Amino acid sequence: MLNDIKEVLYDEGQIKAKVKELGETLSRDFDGRNPLVICVLKGAFIFMSDLVKEMPIKLEIDFMAVSSYGASTKSSGVVKIIKDLDASVEGRDVLIVEDIIDSGLTLSYLIDVLERRNAKSVTVATLFDKPARRSVDLEADYTGFSLPDEFVVGYGLDYAEKYRNLPFIGILKPEVYEK
Ligand code: PRP
Ligand code: MN
Ligand code: MG
Repeated sequence: MLNDIKEVLYDEGQIKAKVKELGETLSRDFDGRNPLVICVLKGAFIFMSDLVKEMPIKLEIDFMAVSSYGASTKSSGVVKIIKDLDASVEGRDVLIVEDIIDSGLTLSYLIDVLERRNAKSVTVATLFDKPARRSVDLEADYTGFSLPDEFVVGYGLDYAEKYRNLPFIGILKPEVYEK
């Protein structure tokens, strides 16, 4: 598995430091608001669990699974809700936790859904961002790292469901997905 990686962009230590920093900022901004922190499955599962450990405030967590990529490296543009929230977002301060924003389609869909359900506020925290790939005009409120326009995997991000368990983020060798 490791020899499918062309280059490590951010290693475990660099990610840990950034997640801690984001957690501190978010804790300050959400203290006293009992936010509903939403993990966007599957990609955000590692970031979510590391992030909330850096947020020593009262909060609640919930999960939503959406998918637009399938086994392709390109977004289909159609976002599907695979698992919905358990909690109601009505009147709540909602914090969406994403692993990466690419075209922005997943997030713009999610924000729209949560606003239509009358969330009091919708805030987005993403660990990674690929601004070069945006097809809708959308920025996260909190971003960890900006990435080049390369196919990246690890720390939750997959290619065909593999590589999510890598503790770092790296560029996948093109021969892996061009096969
Ligand atoms: C990936 C990633 C983001 C989304 C970003 O999820 O985890 O959720 O794509 O792309 P976008 O900005 O172009 O919408 P994916 O649909 O692959 O599902 P997964 O999280 O289960 O891997
Ligand atoms: Mn995802
Ligand atoms: Mg994916």
